[in-house]
Amino acid sequence: MLKILVCVSGGGTNLQAILDGIEKGTVRNAKVVEVISNNPGVYALERAKNAGVKGVCVSPKDYADREEFHRALIEEIDSVSPDLIVLAGFLVNIPSELVRKYPRRIINIHPSLIPSFCGKGYYGLKVHEAALARGVKVTGATVHIVDDGVDTGPILMQKAVEVQPGDTPEVLQKRVMEQAEWVILPGVIDKIATGELSLENS
Ligand code: GRF
Repeated sequence: MLKILVCVSGGGTNLQAILDGIEKGTVRNAKVVEVISNNPGVYALERAKNAGVKGVCVSPKDYADREEFHRALIEEIDSVSPDLIVLAGFLVNIPSELVRKYPRRIINIHPSLIPSFCGKGYYGLKVHEAALARGVKVTGATVHIVDDGVDTGPILMQKAVEVQPGDTPEVLQKRVMEQAEWVILPGVIDKIATGELSLENS
């Protein structure tokens, strides 16, 4: 049974997709053992609670500096000793020490087809604003392994989504979530948990 820890910052729809997949049996051999949020009071923590999963807030505001926050975050993660860390809309730059401690065991979902519209500054609606501004006809989502860079790690799965005339960033964001993110994130986790996908060899 793959022990998963999910890191969130907001609404947690990707977390929900994972929990639903486990419940329905489309994500096999996996269990979410804890959810960590860097923001207190977010709906993602409510989703954890509703699923009977421990939810914890580790907020940078509660620590003197970034270093102390990182130490607390790593300590919390270590206390669970997860097999896999899933960044599901986690808006915190991952400390290098965490990447070193969990090599090829941290994955992230990004709402574009990497290498388009990714890297520093591309998060949330900004990604979709940039895609619309450039006029692309196809966008999508990517699940990748987290390395020391921003959205630079090995790509595990991608799914394309069509841009429609008249799309706003909000409408496009919703379509990318529904058609791509909520499909490929649970999909990758199932493949990792069942041994069909090896993170070591990706
Ligand atoms: C998603 O678009 C994800 O790709 C991005 O942040 C958003 C999080 O949404 N990294 P949610 O909290 O899972 O609803």
